[in-house]
Amino acid sequence: MTQIPLAVVILAAGKGKRMQSDLPKVMHTLAGKPMINILIDQVEQLNPEKIIVVTGADMDALRETVKPHQSVIQTQQQGTADAVKAALPALEGFKGNVLILLGDEPLVPMQLIEEMAAHDSPSVMAIIPPDPHGLGRMVMDEEGELLEIVEHKDCDEDQLEIIICNGGNYCVPASKLGEWINRIGNENAQGEYYLTDMVKLALEDGVPFDVFTIPIDHVWGINDRSQLAEHEQVFMQILRDIHVMNGVRMIDPETVYFHHDTQIAEGVIIEPSVFFGANVRVEFGVHIKAFSHIEGAHIGKNTSVGPFARLRPGSEIGEGVRIGNFVEVKKSTIGDGSKINHLAYVGDCTMGTDVNFSAGAITVNYDGFNKHQTIIGKDVMIGSNVNLVAPLKIDDGAFVAAGSTINEDVPADSLSIAREKGSIHKGWAAKFREGKSKNKDDKKAG
Ligand code: UD1
Ligand code: MG
Repeated sequence: MTQIPLAVVILAAGKGKRMQSDLPKVMHTLAGKPMINILIDQVEQLNPEKIIVVTGADMDALRETVKPHQSVIQTQQQGTADAVKAALPALEGFKGNVLILLGDEPLVPMQLIEEMAAHDSPSVMAIIPPDPHGLGRMVMDEEGELLEIVEHKDCDEDQLEIIICNGGNYCVPASKLGEWINRIGNENAQGEYYLTDMVKLALEDGVPFDVFTIPIDHVWGINDRSQLAEHEQVFMQILRDIHVMNGVRMIDPETVYFHHDTQIAEGVIIEPSVFFGANVRVEFGVHIKAFSHIEGAHIGKNTSVGPFARLRPGSEIGEGVRIGNFVEVKKSTIGDGSKINHLAYVGDCTMGTDVNFSAGAITVNYDGFNKHQTIIGKDVMIGSNVNLVAPLKIDDGAFVAAGSTINEDVPADSLSIAREKGSIHKGWAAKFREGKSKNKDDKKAG
């Protein structure tokens, strides 16, 4: 089979009014990635000669995000056919198939799209969705030949009963595309130039569109925020499946949320209700316990995190480290084998190996204006409820006594202690209690 040259046009200029947002619709994200980039990543797998993205005049950020691919501008958003028209000059001289995709459908079934791209006559993707509301309907004759696509708003009662809908993706020979697009008018309920009308015009020329049909189990196309949320769930499930296939053990995968770029090695265990933000890398054998929130962190081998831990951007956690419950780490390096087991804040800190950072200890890294560094050597013992007032350096092997507020550097192997000397008042409590109960008796008697 000879490969047909392929160009891809992605329609992304729509204002997306139903999203009620200033952000161009296709810039909204799924698992932190703009939906347009999710689509482009998949389309690149088809090795097309070019990918052309149709954008609105005021969508500079969109043009930036689709680079190095070419973008063209649709000056006025007058409908999907008008959008394709804006891409025609960029297709000048191209011979082959033009795949037209909608930017608000980032989770298109790529296998089917690949078949359409290799097909040697015009084709359109049809879907059978759980709910056809809002979608164009595929009007077919008894033989299943596609006669026309009618938009939901233009359907009569009978047409609204049709369950086979327009998936919105087409593959058309470049030689025909311009001619059909230029003939499309805007006499319809929305006064727009509908790309769907291409089907009827082609048929008038004796060229039927072949229909590639696929059942779909979720809403189709992202037009509003509820559809965005539903797609986020579908995409999240795809990510979870990938991690499970890669050897990650999740006890309740549906409660674990990944960022599109989360990297997790095999042999990692993730307990329920864990959230990954951007830029996290987790190495072999790590155990992430329930209710932990992790972003911008690299977690070394065999480390354990949580339950209820928070790792913030810039956390470089070594191997065999223990980060326990209610511990927050930010912009800090934690050396191998160190333990921060409970209730601690470590910010702007470089911590050596085998440090014990006890319950309630914190780095006081912010003076109200600037952030300062705390540097802790190896084999250091930081007692409970210690305030380490940065900038501060604690050298190897030093001990810091519980309850201390330390604002002077601590030399190696020394003890630093900074707290009020306590005193014991023998019998004080018994007398106090006696006085109190006497008062109570007097009150009762009176
Ligand atoms: C479209 C189809 C509908 C199909 C549905 C599937 C048309 C007329 N309707 O409807 O049959 O069932 O997709 O999801 O094609 N766009 C532009 N310029 C414009 C208008 C839109 O670039 O002037 C872009 C949008 O950014 C979007 C895509 O085209 O990515 C589709 O537009 P949208 O308004 O979402 O069409 P639907 O109403 O969803
Ligand atoms: Mg849409």
